[in-house]
Amino acid sequence: MRYPIWRLGVFIAVAVWPLLWLYEAWSFALGPDPGKVLVDRLGLGTLTLLLITLSMTPLHKLSGWAGWIGVRRQLGLWCFAYVVLHLAAYSVFILGLDWSQLGVELRKRPYIIVGALGFLCLLVLTVTSNRYSQRRLGARWKKLHRMVYVILGLGLLHMLWIVRADLKEWAIYASIGVLLLVLRVPPVMRRIPRLIAKKAPSVTKA
Ligand code: HEM
Repeated sequence: MRYPIWRLGVFIAVAVWPLLWLYEAWSFALGPDPGKVLVDRLGLGTLTLLLITLSMTPLHKLSGWAGWIGVRRQLGLWCFAYVVLHLAAYSVFILGLDWSQLGVELRKRPYIIVGALGFLCLLVLTVTSNRYSQRRLGARWKKLHRMVYVILGLGLLHMLWIVRADLKEWAIYASIGVLLLVLRVPPVMRRIPRLIAKKAPSVTKA
């Protein structure tokens, strides 16, 4: 396995946040409604990890460093882990595990349907992220994994629905998302210059 320290560093950097938030909730540092704060932070964490995962390919193109690609799958799996925690926190702290309330909840918070669609798409990508599925699906695997853009759209719509009044934070996430999508358009991608191109031997002028 290449870049073991880098991979471990990324693992720790992503794993530490939910633990820190849980500790904050346990020590009463999250205000009067710690459950809602946890749901929100895990939702934002999911969207952030989605954007970070999508930025690995452009960063690789830009720098030529293979380490970015080396952590791409790990980041995608973390994104799924965060959304599972987001869903679990919602089920425990907002729904109170009272599934009979789900119908009322869906009418009160219809944005949950959009989030649930995003969750299902992430589940499909996670289940098929292994080498076996890659081999079995062949060319269809790449097409299927383009669903990551649908997930980004659903995540942004879900957030927009929630924060309707205050669009500043949403606009930052949406602009980064749009930028990352534009960077993936083949003609744009071809033009991305290599920042760390191999230096040609310098010619000394006489
Ligand atoms: C079954 C799946 C999901 C459920 C039940 C769910 C539920 C929720 C709930 C209840 C909130 C808090 C709303 C509030 O503050 O009043 C929320 C916020 C949020 N969720 Fe989800 N969500 C789901 C999936 C997703 C997915 C797939 C993403 C991202 C790709 C996501 C990203 C977010 C974001 C960014 C916020 C806003 C946090 C903030 O602005 O503070 N959620 N979600």
